This record gives sequence, C-alpha cells and structure tokens, in this order.
Amino acid sequence: MAANPRQQAAVITGAAGGIGHALAQALAARGYALALADVDAGALEAARAALAAQGATVIAVHTDVSDAGQIEHLCEQSFLRLGHVDLLVNNAGVLATGRCWELEPEVFERVMRINLWSVLHALRSFVPRMAAQGAGHIVNVASMAGLAVGPWLAPYTLSKQGVVALSEGLLLELQAAGLPLGVSVVCPGPVATGIASGLDGAAPREVDQMNGALRSGIAAGMTPDAVAQRILDGVSARQFWILPHEQAAQAALARAQGIAAGSLPAFAF
Ligand SMILES: NC(=O)c1ccc[n+]([C@@H]2O[C@H](COP(=O)([O-])OP(=O)(O)OC[C@H]3O[C@@H](n4cnc5c(N)ncnc54)[C@H](O)[C@@H]3O)[C@@H](O)[C@H]2O)c1
Repeated sequence: MAANPRQQAAVITGAAGGIGHALAQALAARGYALALADVDAGALEAARAALAAQGATVIAVHTDVSDAGQIEHLCEQSFLRLGHVDLLVNNAGVLATGRCWELEPEVFERVMRINLWSVLHALRSFVPRMAAQGAGHIVNVASMAGLAVGPWLAPYTLSKQGVVALSEGLLLELQAAGLPLGVSVVCPGPVATGIASGLDGAAPREVDQMNGALRSGIAAGMTPDAVAQRILDGVSARQFWILPHEQAAQAALARAQGIAAGSLPAFAF
C-alpha cells in the first residue's frame, strides 16, 4: 500500500463528500497516493473503493477531526502506510446558523471543534513529521466567511476567521523557525455541496430566510471539481491566499476599508 518513493502523497479530511471528495479525485488524477479521512464511515469506504477501482493508491482512516487522538491516529497511519505526506488538506467542516444570542453553547462548541480545533490538532500531529521529512505543504480550507462577516452565522464565522488567522500565523512561524513547509488558506464563496442540507427549518423568520438563500446560493455555486482544480493550481503556484471566487476578495477589501473608515459593519453576503 505504501506510495512508491517518488509518488507524492496527500492526506485529506472530509474526503468523503463535497470539496474533499473532489480534491481526492483531482489528486488521484495527478498521481498522488491518498489517505482519506472522514467521520461518515459508509461514504468514506465508498470513496476509497471507487478510487482504488480507478487504480489509485488509497487508504481510508475513519476520523472525527474534532478529536485530537483520532487526528494523531490519522497521522500515524498516513506516514506508516503511505511512507510520507507531501500535502495535508484540512478540509472537513460544518455549518450552523441562528441568532448568536439564542444558539446553544453546544452548537458553537461543535462547530469550533470541527472547523477550527481540528486544524490545531492536525498541526500538532503533522507539522513535526512533515518538517522532519524536509518538505511539505499544508492547505487549510476556510471560507469567504473567514474574511468577512455576515449575520446569523456566528459559529461558522468565528471558526473560519480563526482558521484564516491561524494559517497566517502558521506561515510566519514556519518561516521564523526556518522550517521548509508551505501553507495555503482557501476562502471559497458558494460551492455546490451538501453542506447546507442540515440547516434548521424551524429558525426565526430572518434566519429561515437566510437559510433558504444559503441553500439556493450553494446549490447554484461553483462546482466542487472547479474549486478542487483551483486549489491544486494554487498549491502548485505556492500561493498562500487561494480565493476561488472574486467576491471573496471584494468582501475582504470592503471590510478592511470599512474598518479603516470607521464605518458600521455591513452585510458582506
Ligand atoms: N460548500 C460551500 O459553499 C463552502 C464555502 C466555503 C467554504 N466551505 C468549506 O469547505 C469545506 C468542505 O465543505 P463542503 O462544502 O465540501 O461540505 P460537505 O458537507 O459536502 O462535506 C464535508 C465533509 O466533511 C465531513 N465531516 C463533517 N464533520 C466531520 C468530522 N467531525 N470529522 C471528519 N469529517 C467530517 C462530512 O462527512 C463530509 O464528507 C468545509 O470546511 C466548508 O466550511 C464550503
């Protein structure tokens, strides 16, 4: 199962669906050996089997990314069974909506654990081993919500702004330590995946309206395949900021200009 020594190897979290699954397919097409991680055991095995049937070198490691021990297990299995890890994609994520003063603390905690703490766990497990092998690249999938703020998305925006800030700090710290690892942070706008499928239909009126707009915007969004190609092109070009949607850059600029001008926050999306 080990990748041959010249074959590049990648680990992808949230690899059984959406953007992660598209990334797995795109990386397999580029000749990468793969470690797929997901909490959905059935979808994970289906993804592994389909890629293996296409001739890919692929392992599946059932992982809940919110658990540091499971991320460490993913890391151990990836290095043991693939031999090396050239690319780590911290992609798994979930969405929750609601008024920030009404959402249960458990909702914030779940989203923060899956979207943000998972990245910290992965850095603690993977960075020392990737640095020891002398090369590697880490991709953190944040969101346009990591660059700009909209209402009724507080758990999500908190987590994604955290992923962006953590990625910026990571790059600076790796450079200061002289460690040879690259970093990219991905901030997509709407991508046509199932991420909004579980949004609560019994929300307050304005939240319910936004849930509907989110669902239709996401359904009409960029394809996961197009986003995956954009991410891999960005990694090949060693880009730190990977913004597949122009609107993300515009939203970030508008927010920065608003801060500098002392304006009140405005709807970014
Ligand atoms: N779809 C969009 O419009 C959009 C926009 C911006 C950013 N993103 C980000 O892209 C990433 C991928 O999202 P997607 O749209 O492909 O979503 P998706 O729901 O289609 O896929 C997410 C995958 O992550 C897995 N997952 C969820 N919780 C997990 C956990 N605790 N441990 C391991 N795996 C877990 C799911 O089983 C699923 O396979 C997320 O970080 C999301 O925030 C998505």
